[in-house]
Amino acid sequence: AENKPLAGRKMIVTAGPTHEPIDPVRYIANRSSGKQGYAIARALAKLGAAVTLVSGPTRLPEPEGVTSVQVESAKDMLAATEAALPADAAIFAAAVADWRVASAADQKIKKQDGDLPDLKLAENPDILATISQLSEGRPNLVVGFAAETQNVLENARLKLGRKKCDWIIANDVSPETGTFGGDDNRVHILNGEGNQTLPLMSKEDVATALAARIAEFFHGK
Ligand code: C5P
Repeated sequence: AENKPLAGRKMIVTAGPTHEPIDPVRYIANRSSGKQGYAIARALAKLGAAVTLVSGPTRLPEPEGVTSVQVESAKDMLAATEAALPADAAIFAAAVADWRVASAADQKIKKQDGDLPDLKLAENPDILATISQLSEGRPNLVVGFAAETQNVLENARLKLGRKKCDWIIANDVSPETGTFGGDDNRVHILNGEGNQTLPLMSKEDVATALAARIAEFFHGK
């Protein structure tokens, strides 16, 4: 149908931050709100897609009409994403922690006078790069995000090549823009054909515009 152009398509969206445990009561996290990813999940569902939203911890309600999978760490997010395959498209809007604590403690780490815990970090799996480089069962359209504070387009284009995804949605998250945790976003869509800059708009409108582009991509496929 004209208003459900993504009917019959399966899509995965990752969203939110990840929490990387230090011990049972402490974790490393970041300031991602999950707003942009949740809005994308809703916008795709509105166009008829069957959406699985793989979300790190956020304060947002689970969107209606979407299958939500709640995870904490990057490793869990990768596993949940793989479990949600196959999919026609995967959109990686999560702010995945780059590092986890190499061996999280089983018990709460005790504060001891003058003795600081020596937290060794390990690199997390790159979920976007892993799914982009699947030799079997790769989604037809893999979309990543690039949050940059300088040389936004240049760095985003490098990321497109490095991660081997199809599109990168680049946004300027330098502190003065208020993007991180805020309601507005100015994004650029980069792909093999070039760059398209969208005007500053709400994260809801970015999601609607992106979902429309995705519907266009699948039109006639
Ligand atoms: O390398 P960077 O973190 O800037 O890349 C951002 C993009 O990669 C986002 O789409 C993000 O969701 C994804 N990513 C991921 N797994 C990671 C790190 C980033 O899926 N461990």
